[in-house]
Amino acid sequence: MQKLPFPQTHIFYGGDYNPEQWPESVWPDDMALMKQAGVNLVTLGVFSWAQLEPRPGVYTFEWMDKILSMLSENGIEICLATATASPPPWLAKHHPESLPVDADGITYWPGGRQAYCPHSVAYKESAAALVRQMAERYGRHPAVKIWHINNEYGCHTDECFCDVSAAAFREWLKKRYQTIEVLNHAWGTAFWSQRYGDWDEIHPPRRAPTFPNPTQNLDWRRFSSDSLLDLMNMEKAILRELTPNIPVTTNFLGFWKATDYWKFSQHEDVISMDAYPDPANVRLGAHVEAPLFSGGELALQSDLMRSLGNGAPWMLMEQAPTAVNWRNVNVPKGPGLMRLWSLQCVARGAGSIMFFQWRQSKAGAEKFHSGMVPHVGVENSRVWREISGLGAELKRLSPLLDAKIKAEVAIVFDWESWWALEIDSKPSMDVRQMEQVARHYAPLYLGNIAADFVRPGADLRGYKLVIVPNLYQVRGADAENLSRYVEQGGTLLMSFFSGITDENEHIWIGGYPAPFRKMLGLVVEEFVPGQENTVRFDTGEEFAADLWADVIHLEGAQALATFTGNFFAGAPAVTRHRYGEGNAFYIGTRLTAEAMSTLMKRVTDEVGIQPDLTVPAGVEVIYKGKYLCILNHLPEAVTVTVAGTDLLTGGPVNPVIEPLGARFVELA
Ligand code: GLA
Repeated sequence: MQKLPFPQTHIFYGGDYNPEQWPESVWPDDMALMKQAGVNLVTLGVFSWAQLEPRPGVYTFEWMDKILSMLSENGIEICLATATASPPPWLAKHHPESLPVDADGITYWPGGRQAYCPHSVAYKESAAALVRQMAERYGRHPAVKIWHINNEYGCHTDECFCDVSAAAFREWLKKRYQTIEVLNHAWGTAFWSQRYGDWDEIHPPRRAPTFPNPTQNLDWRRFSSDSLLDLMNMEKAILRELTPNIPVTTNFLGFWKATDYWKFSQHEDVISMDAYPDPANVRLGAHVEAPLFSGGELALQSDLMRSLGNGAPWMLMEQAPTAVNWRNVNVPKGPGLMRLWSLQCVARGAGSIMFFQWRQSKAGAEKFHSGMVPHVGVENSRVWREISGLGAELKRLSPLLDAKIKAEVAIVFDWESWWALEIDSKPSMDVRQMEQVARHYAPLYLGNIAADFVRPGADLRGYKLVIVPNLYQVRGADAENLSRYVEQGGTLLMSFFSGITDENEHIWIGGYPAPFRKMLGLVVEEFVPGQENTVRFDTGEEFAADLWADVIHLEGAQALATFTGNFFAGAPAVTRHRYGEGNAFYIGTRLTAEAMSTLMKRVTDEVGIQPDLTVPAGVEVIYKGKYLCILNHLPEAVTVTVAGTDLLTGGPVNPVIEPLGARFVELA
């Protein structure tokens, strides 16, 4: 299905609007305040199913008609949810089999949200009927700008182990393998007497006495992600049929393990994301020991969204105005932080800045989650002042919508490899995909070097450097793609435990990492996880290394660093190999953040990638076409001199950037 354009002349600003939680008398007040705040788009109906269809087949759209009219009369456009994210309690009453069941056979009951099995016929039929009603009723409404399908697929229910799901799994497997013998081979069932004689002997990886078959596990993840995508496509097909000109999106959750967003993004017209970095921990997630200053996690997620959408403006569909409610301790965003993080998203390609939610709830589990309109009201509210201040500022940033970020670095990321890596029974379960990605991303982020995320099979020719953090599982064709990139003159940096298994989770035999052995010019004889060591570089610098060590034998590569301890002392830890016209670097251990920065600088210097502007650490710089975006994540003012026009003020650029301040410069 062809993608629809999402034309934008201005940045969208707004949030989830849940008017059904409030008496109608509040609605006019909402309209007035939205205008005051500069809101021009709201997401309506995300959790409205029970209000729209209080009894099966009985629809009550009158309240929604009214709110749509009010919004459009006030010049506010609508991101209209299909309202299928949380079925009303009657679905479970009439169809108890629609409830999700976990690996232990425990049923998850209604009373929270997202209590449905993705394979439930009753859920699918009821959801499809609702989507049809929504599209027929509102598909021609001039204020409906975009469809918001469901909400955060897989956020709470990303898999279901019930009998209906088991049957769906078998069908999925039949399509993938055609015959049981092919499945037996792929799953390696010659092991532990696991050979299957018939499809109906196969089950989801339910609680088992010990480790379930890893390929079964991996296929289960593929199947579960595909099932959620099928649900999205079921809704999309109805929407396309009835409203062929309204684009669709579903809101992503950053790097969400359950859902393969490379696949999902193919079916979306616009990429959108919900982002909730913890203001209490402004390091890059909880992963990296070196502080990354506020914004590291958001930068990482923003770059993924930009990459999923091939550089088109993406939507920040949700963020918290200040605190959330769902952590153990919910720290607010201090003065200026919401603005800075929002502007950071704009700099990194967002064309919409939206919140969860418009008016802070009075009841329910999220009543302590912040809203754009807080419980305290708008008078004397810091949050409201910041919300309305940002609304005004964003109006000045529309020129950024058409400007593109040009990255010279690509980071290879693959959901299937992530799943495979984190399935049990590995040399070390402490090797975690996102921790490794963060460690490779950190020096780029801190060094103000733009990076795209790519699939292992992507066309890499436009990149000066390709980084491959722990690509444990790799298809043969993808491994060839990476090797060819180097052979033809590219520079690639790969880290340990890459190229170990194929897509069936069978070891690539031929000396680790067999598919990359020639490219890297080395072979790994054995893995030594769980040890602490020191590596000495050829520059004389020494750094600590832990978590993992490869015992490496060189086959043409040169050692850039060697281990100083353990039985493999003196063996290579970091290597470089000239292969064809290009170079392949390899890191056979986990280096400290400092060592990673040093190494990354060496590699980026070698390929001639250098930030154009030198700024103090903690200041983020992004080039977006002819615009330069500068974000000061520090609690103190910094001085950065650039010539040009300040988009926010319309005047010359004040070089003294206030704490948590930002500049958007049209370069002279
Ligand atoms: C998610 C959901 C919202 C809301 C927020 C709270 O992003 O989509 O409905 O629950 O979390 O942070």
